[in-house]
Amino acid sequence: MLNIALPKGRLGEKVYELFSSIGYDCAAIREDNRKLVFENPANDVRYLLVKPSDVAIYVEHGAADIGVVGKDVLLETKPDVYELLDLDLGKCRLAVAAKNGWQEDLSLPLRVATKYPHVAKEYYEAQGRQIEIIRLNGSIELAPLLGLSDVIVDIVETGTTLKENHLSVSATVAQSSARLIANKACYQFSAAEIDGICGKLREKL
Ligand code: PRP
Repeated sequence: MLNIALPKGRLGEKVYELFSSIGYDCAAIREDNRKLVFENPANDVRYLLVKPSDVAIYVEHGAADIGVVGKDVLLETKPDVYELLDLDLGKCRLAVAAKNGWQEDLSLPLRVATKYPHVAKEYYEAQGRQIEIIRLNGSIELAPLLGLSDVIVDIVETGTTLKENHLSVSATVAQSSARLIANKACYQFSAAEIDGICGKLREKL
């Protein structure tokens, strides 16, 4: 059985729909329960529900053969996996944002709140800008509002969160969307099955 790590939450909903549309139904995932493993014997696959930021960890270590993860996570963690396909879902961008009207003081290190410390570091290093990273795990938009940081580097999808918190984008760091990834060793063992799924997904796109 092929183990497939799928992300829980917002991206997850779209991914389950996509897998269902290629005949890899996983309707049981939508049931309101706390199960984390769902077997689909008809397709010889097992779905593992994990936090979006953990999908690549399961795949890199071979606990899952393949998985679906945002490019944002791949850029941040650089896992040693194959990136097989852009699923064109969960499209968003990684962006720098600040309070509306905020003026940068170039004589001071820039305080950057983010859950993407490596992406932020690389981005500012390339510009030769000195920064101080404030690593947060969520509600990043609060940081500049409370003076904890000057800017944030975070995901912007609809832009609603920024708007409702009186923040605006000052630069785009990278584009992101969901990617199908595979464990390198598992891919050698199960190339036919993995290519089969990948091919069906590609046709659907
Ligand atoms: C993400 C991101 C922004 C929001 C952007 O947060 O960190 O807060 O989505 O989406 P929008 O542009 O459509 O408003 P998430 O929902 O993952 O929660 P978090 O605050 O726990 O990171």
